[in-house]
Amino acid sequence: MPTKKSTTSSGKLTATLRIGHGDSVKEIELPMQSGTMGPDVIDVRQLYGKANVFTYDPAFMATASCESRITYIDGEKGVLLHRGYSIAELAKNGDFLEVCYLLINGELPNAEQKKKFVHDITHHTMLHDQVQYFFRGFRRDAHPMAVMVGVVGALSAFYHDETDYNEPHARMVATYRMIAKMPTIAAWAYKYSMGQPFVYPQNRFGFAENFMQMMFATPCEEYQVSPVVARAMDQILILHADHEQNASTSTVRLAGSSGANPFACIAAGIATLWGPAHGGANEAVIRMLKRIGSKDRIGEFITRAKDPNDTFRLMGFGHRVYKNFDPRATIMRKSAHDVLNEMGMGDNPLLPIAMELERIALEDDYFVQRKLYPNVDFYSGIILQAMGIPSRLFTAVFAVARTVGWMAQWNEMMDDPGRKIGRPRQIYTGHTQRAYVPVKRRA
Ligand code: CMC
Repeated sequence: MPTKKSTTSSGKLTATLRIGHGDSVKEIELPMQSGTMGPDVIDVRQLYGKANVFTYDPAFMATASCESRITYIDGEKGVLLHRGYSIAELAKNGDFLEVCYLLINGELPNAEQKKKFVHDITHHTMLHDQVQYFFRGFRRDAHPMAVMVGVVGALSAFYHDETDYNEPHARMVATYRMIAKMPTIAAWAYKYSMGQPFVYPQNRFGFAENFMQMMFATPCEEYQVSPVVARAMDQILILHADHEQNASTSTVRLAGSSGANPFACIAAGIATLWGPAHGGANEAVIRMLKRIGSKDRIGEFITRAKDPNDTFRLMGFGHRVYKNFDPRATIMRKSAHDVLNEMGMGDNPLLPIAMELERIALEDDYFVQRKLYPNVDFYSGIILQAMGIPSRLFTAVFAVARTVGWMAQWNEMMDDPGRKIGRPRQIYTGHTQRAYVPVKRRA
């Protein structure tokens, strides 16, 4: 089915698709659309009606699932922009709540807007008192992501009533609640696993500091957050805030397309994020570095990663979209060194293994040819570990950050007047129709 690109007399780009062979070739003209940046797209919505065929793209390798104004990625050039601002500038000059405001509202806040936004988020951080019983229902050794899927899903029972989420104000309240309560939920998942009492949010702290004090303070002792560490946490949150139509975000959009409760949609996003090919990679990086154990065993693991018959992959390497470098990884790499110095952990035994692994992989033909570079999770795992955050909680930190992206994308979808329920098609490869055989006659 070759396609060719042309321009109509009105100047609009179209693509012509030729289907069939010999005398039975049918030509179908399909409209094309252009964004402000990035490749043009062929609009195939009319294809089934016009030609009775579907397109096949199971992992969405070449399919745009929506229009969006939030985040732009050029994977070949290593570019990541939020609402037009580069991630490097945002991470250097901004803070997480400012980036949240930008992602949700489309513009950076002025001083007054920022003050109000920080106040409003801060005053939504407490959980309904009954939510604690959901935590207590889990086994103590439950994975924090399992707890988060459950507790966030349960919030849909607290904020469901007759809310009409087609109404922008209702959506905004849900957005504020979700961003504000996620650190409390993640920190409490940790506290519960430790057998320690829940620590409540304190409105005098900034977002990242508050998150850390809820994880590490106890009723007996306050937790003093170092400014370097609080800033590094804030930066981790900025770098993970949104990443256009990744697996968890697409899940949130798909779940939301049916009009489902937003808290239930976010629970679906958390479940997707948990997988080791997505947000679970930061935890998997530390597990892998510990398994490698020393620099002299790196070669063995590189060989395994390259073996097509071995399922082992180098965790923290490769990305579906970035085929040059992950711009978030560059920022995170520097931050890793700052935090390790601040924490007096320049001698962290995993760091030399990580650095040597990075060096060898970047020079190895297998990784170079496939454009497999260290991604954001390669370094974030190392920083989080230095902060004293247990590796089982790493993906929960990612979920705290990504919540704003999920909510911004959900809002954008809900706001789209052309919104339709998401419904992919398939190539059916099962049996054709056959007759039912009664059980006594079955072989
Ligand atoms: N180690 C060894 N080989 C790899 C790796 C890796 N980490 N990643 C990809 N490859 C190979 C893969 O075997 C394939 O080789 P071949 O062409 O010979 O069959 C080639 O590279 C292309 O891989 P792919 O699986 O087709 O690529 P993808 O775009 O479907 O997968 C990925 C992207 C991120 C799932 C994958 O690179 C991976 O599993 N990486 C490790 C997990 C990880 O770090 N994930 C975090 C991603 S960043 C944070 C986030 O987005 O959540």
